[in-house]
Amino acid sequence: MSNKVLPQEAPNRVLLDRRNVIKLIGSACAVSSLASQLSGCVVAEVFTELGTTFAFDLSTPQFAPLKTVGEAVDVDDAAGRPVILIRTSESEIMAVNRICTHTQCDMKLGSFGEWDGEKIICRCHNSHFAPTGEVLNPPANRPLPSYQVRFDATNESAEIIFQDALEEEAGAEAGAEAGAEAGAEAGAEAGAEAGVEAGAEAGAEAGVEAGAEMLNNPFGDDPSSITEGEELYQANCVFCHGESGVGNAFPDADAFNIDQSGWTDAHLFGVLTDGISGTSMGSYEETLTEEERWKVVSYLRSLRTDQ
Ligand code: HEC
Ligand code: FES
Repeated sequence: MSNKVLPQEAPNRVLLDRRNVIKLIGSACAVSSLASQLSGCVVAEVFTELGTTFAFDLSTPQFAPLKTVGEAVDVDDAAGRPVILIRTSESEIMAVNRICTHTQCDMKLGSFGEWDGEKIICRCHNSHFAPTGEVLNPPANRPLPSYQVRFDATNESAEIIFQDALEEEAGAEAGAEAGAEAGAEAGAEAGAEAGVEAGAEAGAEAGVEAGAEMLNNPFGDDPSSITEGEELYQANCVFCHGESGVGNAFPDADAFNIDQSGWTDAHLFGVLTDGISGTSMGSYEETLTEEERWKVVSYLRSLRTDQ
């Protein structure tokens, strides 16, 4: 506990803090003890006060590409957000959030993001988005948040207006909660799987249940499976896990050129199938067949250094 005493006018200041405003809205301006100190509901007012903007000018080198229709640039920090700006017509510039709605890869252009003149491509798992933020290709299934841009083509100045920032953040909070729940569920599943494994090891008969998951890689270290697995790895994983599994091409992406004795085949297969909830490690259940996932496991195993 800090021994600083909040000044008397603290409740008013608190109003200007985003998270508290979201909570106020969430609690319908009535139930929270903070709200009860307020005379009336001030949410509408707060909205305008919080509307942040980001001004930019096409005469500066960073934004100069936007002089040409069909070009795009990105900004790391537009009033706190990473955005992609696209000149879609003579009179219009579009702005969308750069964070992929699939598993939150930052689609920085030239890194995990690509603008091909028509759409934004997320290199993490190949989602496509229109300049409006609309999803054109899965696995993403939610649009990118898009922002209004006030653009004056005559003097080449523009401004992004983050009016919907509050909704977006409230949404993100709800999303985080849902994510935590999903995570808990995934955890429970993982626990169940671990249980299954332990059971199998305890020496129960083979194939106890019909449809029980295979625990060992049917392809093992078969050379042609490793070669096939390597091709699949190059197409799907190398962006994040690096050449030959050196890791960290994407923040926190594990290395595979290490001692892998802590991982069972079933664990690796399970991660490929389900992904890791709440991280950029996505599920490959839809994109790779069961056989292909096992062949990728064969390849990952070939990278280990413990033998
Ligand atoms: C968008 C980046 C990204 C892509 C693409 C990606 N991964 Fe991952 N992967 C990660 C991250 C980040 C983690 C760590 C997640 C965490 O924090 O636990 C991870 C974790 C893993 C793990 C878990 C290791 C452990 O400690 O249990 C395995 C296995 C794995 N990835 C394999 C793959 C394979 C194989 C592919 C391709 C089919 C792939 N990943 C594609 C980012 C990625
Ligand atoms: S496609 Fe973008 S994070 Fe998966």
